[in-house]
Parts: sequence; C-alpha cells; structure tokens
Amino acid sequence: MVAMSGADGAKPRDGQGDGQRDGQRDGQRDGWSSRSAFILAAIGSAVGLGNLVRFPAEAGANGGGAFVLFYIFCILLIGLPVLLSETLIGRHGQSSATESVRRMAAESKASKYWEGLAGLGVAAAFMILAFYCVIGGWVLYYVGLFVGDLFNSGVTGGALQGMTADGIKAIFPVLLENGLLMTGLDLLFVAITVYFVARGVSGGIEIVAVWLMPAFFALLLGITIYGAFGGAFTETLTYLFTVDFSKLTGGVMLAAVGQAFFSLSLGVAGMITYGSYVGRDVNLAGTSAIIAFADTSVALIAGLCIFPIVLAAGLSSEGGLGLMFDTLPHAFQSMPAGSVIGLAFFVMVGFAALTSSVALMEVPTSWAMEKFKTRRAPTAIAVAALAAALGAASAYSLNTLSGFHPLGFIPLFEGQGIFDTLDAVTAKLFMPIGAILTAVFVGWIAACTNSGCFWCGGCARWY
Ligand code: PHE
Repeated sequence: MVAMSGADGAKPRDGQGDGQRDGQRDGQRDGWSSRSAFILAAIGSAVGLGNLVRFPAEAGANGGGAFVLFYIFCILLIGLPVLLSETLIGRHGQSSATESVRRMAAESKASKYWEGLAGLGVAAAFMILAFYCVIGGWVLYYVGLFVGDLFNSGVTGGALQGMTADGIKAIFPVLLENGLLMTGLDLLFVAITVYFVARGVSGGIEIVAVWLMPAFFALLLGITIYGAFGGAFTETLTYLFTVDFSKLTGGVMLAAVGQAFFSLSLGVAGMITYGSYVGRDVNLAGTSAIIAFADTSVALIAGLCIFPIVLAAGLSSEGGLGLMFDTLPHAFQSMPAGSVIGLAFFVMVGFAALTSSVALMEVPTSWAMEKFKTRRAPTAIAVAALAAALGAASAYSLNTLSGFHPLGFIPLFEGQGIFDTLDAVTAKLFMPIGAILTAVFVGWIAACTNSGCFWCGGCARWY
C-alpha cells in the first residue's frame, strides 16, 4: 500500500503522463494528483447523461415536483451513505474494486464471496459503458449537425432555418434507423474515451475532468441564464417545484431511487475504483457531500436549463430521450441565436458524457489490469473493443435487430431489445443490488468486526 505524500490529498505516483508505466507492475499505483482532482473527477463521473437527459425526462414523465422532492430525499438518505461507503472501500483497499472488497472482507474475517458485489458492479459498468457510448455517439451527431447549422442559419437567427417542424422531428428517428452510422459514431466516442483511459489516472482521466468540468459548468450556467430571460422560467419553477403529493406513487418513488443511483454512479463499483486512487488524508465524508451536492445541483439546473426553452417554444415537456434529441432541437428553432445555443448545448452534453464514460471504462480496465496482470493501455483498448462490439449490437437492436429480445422470457424485460435490456438490467437490478450490498457490507459486515475499524481511524480516517 502507498504511503501518503501529505500534500493536498495527493497520492505519490510515478509515471505521470506515461500510461505505459501506470500499471501495477511498477509496484506503485497511479493516483489523483490532488484532492481537488479527485473531487472534479468524481463529479465528472456523477454528472452525465443521467443529469442532463435522464433526470429531466424522468421528472417530466413522473409528475414534476413530487418526483424532484423524493429524488432529493433519496440522494440524502440513500445516495450519500452509499457514496461514502464505496469511496471508503476503495480508499481502504487501494486496489481494483473486487480486490478492495476482498481485502476489506478478509480483514473483517468475512466471507470472501463479498467480492462478488464488486464483480457485479464491474459487469454493470461494462454494460452501461456499451450503451452509454452509443448515446455519446448521438451527441456527437448533434454537435456535427449544429456546427453545420451555424454556417447555414447564422449566428443570430434561430437554429435549423428552413426546416419544417416535421423535418426536425424526423432527424432523431432517422438516426435511430441507421445502424451503421450509429455504430461509427459509437466507435468514435469509444475511441475518444479510451484515449484518456489508456493514459492513466493522473495523466488522462484526471486531465479530462480538470479541463472539461469547469467548461461544462460555464456552459450550463450560460445557457440557463440565457434561457431564463427568453424562456418560460416561472412556469418551469412552478412545474419543477410545486409538489403534489397525490402524484407520489410507488412507481414514481422507484423511479426516483433508480435515478439517484444512476446519477451518483453508485452500485457499479465506479466510486470504489475512483476511491482507490485517493490519498489517505482526504476527508471522504466531506468530499462525498460535495460530490452529491454538485451532482444534484446540476440535475436541478439542467431542469431549469431545458424546460424554459421547451416550454417557451410551446412544446410538451414530457417524453424520454425525445426531450433532448427531438424537442430541444425544435425549440432552438424559435430561439434567438438558436444555432449557437444548440451547438453550445450539445458540446456541453458531450463533455458531461465523456467524463462519465471515462469513469465507466476505468472500472473494467482497472479490474482486468489487476486480474490478468496486464499493462493499462492494451487492457483499456481490449475493454474498449469489447464495449464497442456490444455497443454496435445495441445500436442495431434499435432497428435491424429490434425483434431480438435477449431476456424476453423474464417479465421485467419482456419485449426489450439489447439496448433497452442493458439499461433495464443495470438500472433495475445490478445498481440497486450492488448499492444495497455495499451499504450492508460497509455498515454491518466490515465496520465493527476488528480493532482499528474503518470508521474510527487507524486504517482510514474519514471524518
Ligand atoms: N452518473 C452518470 C450519469 O449521470 C452515469 C454513470 C453511472 C457513470 C455509473 C459512471 C458509473 O450519467
């Protein structure tokens, strides 16, 4: 295990900027160069399509205010403790997710099968990575679309000039029909992701977060403020924050819990992995609170960013993925400087998606590097190739392969193609199970079993 360097939560490391030397063969593991680098990377992992696409879509589909209030309740009561537990396991283990859990279990004289909880997480992270990069590819497509549109429509006018409402509405379904194009875009997004993962923690993953997260925040605030002036801001506030408790059904509550796990990147061993690169002197309780606060704020601000634009254009605020890829482009048409805002918006979504896909790819990469004693770059490339293959299958499952329902025999996954099955299996099964097992493991199995327990000092000072 690595001794602390003492300065700002940094872990001592070698091979900075040299992905090839970053593997565990060198004896010393790579790590975050500072506490703030860890915070930015963890926020980068948490803030992603989940905040920008899933949260507004779920809030829209589940009755607005009641969902939002229960979501915040879930973040505080379930999300935050599980986030702290995951980072605690990782920091204590200083190893891949499975090895970190195994070590903690061994020290607590608990069954070695607890390792399975991290194994489940690694599998889930890989599955999410596969379809997440397909969505990342769609975002790239829209970035390209709005770059082209900027030349066409100009800086000051609305976006997509000269296109009819039906024409705009057709952009997304036509893309979904094109398996080859989606696979190509998926490959591009996977390639960008693996470029950074292959370069290591301090030389790659951290760089993405440190550069892109501030840019992301600037874009989000800029677009929100712009939208607030032209858009239906008061309507949005009423919509998002008026709580009608009669709308708080079991289904809405479940959706809120699931969204909390997805948004905080929990139950997929991601925060165990990121926690394993943290120095011993970092206050994990404090940093977990910062991460959860930032993630929740971004989800709420994303709501305040998207709904005014959509409502001002007189469009419906409901609907899943269509809200971002269908309704918003339409709304940008009637907005002054719509092309610029549209481009800025999808660039911002791309940044958020990339800092999350990097986290998702790091989980199986770090696991495989340790399991097979391989170097980082080739391991990351192998993981990327497998994720791209599964991604291609899920892209085609939206068109050519739509009749193939891999888990159709289970009622929960009935009628779902590969893409939807990957999403549902991870969000409805793997993530909640992984998160609950983590909480039980840290709170019950590991916490009180030996002297110098994980909560009170000695091995890990987290308070
Ligand atoms: N939390 C990310 C998002 O909101 C998704 C994610 C899940 C990232 C799990 C890493 C691990 O988009």
